[in-house]
Amino acid sequence: MLRIGKKVYLESCVMCHGIDAKGHGPLSKLKNSSLYPADLSKTLLNREQQIVYTKYGGKFWGSAEANMPSWRNEYDDFTLHSVILYIEEVLDKK
Ligand code: HEC
Repeated sequence: MLRIGKKVYLESCVMCHGIDAKGHGPLSKLKNSSLYPADLSKTLLNREQQIVYTKYGGKFWGSAEANMPSWRNEYDDFTLHSVILYIEEVLDKK
């Protein structure tokens, strides 16, 4: 599961959330910094909530910024679950 999560994270999340999941991906450095991505080490959401957030995106959650895209057309629930577990694993190593 972690291998799937890693692959998906590196394909779809790293450019915003960064290799360490702390929100320093290359896209976050663009001038238009309304694209400022969440530091996933500071999330207040639990695992289930993060999966839902990732599935439907920031707008659905009512996030003020809502720049986080929705991934429900790209990935199924199992895959999204894997990504969230991978993020936890990355953050645990800090
Ligand atoms: C285009 C940049 C971008 C990409 C790509 C992206 N995110 Fe995000 N993400 C954000 C931004 C910006 C936020 C902050 C809230 C918002 O604007 O909606 C966020 C918020 C989140 C949150 C909620 C954190 C919190 O505590 O509110 C989670 C969980 C998350 N992202 C996971 C992911 C995962 C998993 C992927 C890959 C499948 C991903 N993101 C891809 C930009 C991105």
